[in-house]
Amino acid sequence: SLPPVITIDGPTASGKGTVAHRVADALGFHYLDSGALYRLVALRSQRVGIEVDEVKDLADLAHGLHLRFRGDKIWLEGEEVSQLIRAEDIGNRASALAVHQQVREALTARQRAFRTRPGLVADGRDMGTVIFPDAPVKVFLTASVEARAERRYKQLIDKGFSANMEDLLRDLTARDARDASRAVAPLRPAQDAHLLDTSDMTVDQAVAQVLAWYGQAV
Ligand code: C5P
Repeated sequence: SLPPVITIDGPTASGKGTVAHRVADALGFHYLDSGALYRLVALRSQRVGIEVDEVKDLADLAHGLHLRFRGDKIWLEGEEVSQLIRAEDIGNRASALAVHQQVREALTARQRAFRTRPGLVADGRDMGTVIFPDAPVKVFLTASVEARAERRYKQLIDKGFSANMEDLLRDLTARDARDASRAVAPLRPAQDAHLLDTSDMTVDQAVAQVLAWYGQAV
């Protein structure tokens, strides 16, 4: 049988990365940050001069990316880009190219390959709906747009990027709208997902809740 997967989907800056990471650590599971894959396609395509609507070229690039993941670090074509891909313009570019079915398909096998023993925690937008529809535990994390903009602001400043609250609120809203309204793999809770609104929750509380759901499922 396949190793277990816990999927954690949700909108931008909902805290899913932090929660997913912590849940993975608690269980000794592997961790997949699927958004990083879209960000890597965004960075690479920007560098080689492929536009976000050149679908065939983007899909080929996504298929052929040479990646290495180790701990929190990611290498793209031999260069460590863990911080570079966190820039807000790369996130927006990722969202723009993630609307294409062919690009998503080019990344599907790569994502499923992370499902190895003893188990996986995967975060993104379509982990529970498309990539791991048979996951025993699915979580849909939300938080108010204000709470998310504040978190993203702090993250960006902590990473040494500049940030502006008004721009962030505008970009978050636009990115959510695009992710939720796209025809292919839109952002939405799986039918069997647990909903978790973390606006007024600490990370510890959110992690404890996900672990409790996992405990009930296995
Ligand atoms: O999660 P993160 O903000 O890093 O993702 C960047 C963008 O990649 C998202 O706005 C979304 O459009 C896209 N994405 C996606 N499917 C995923 C993960 C991310 O479409 N599973």
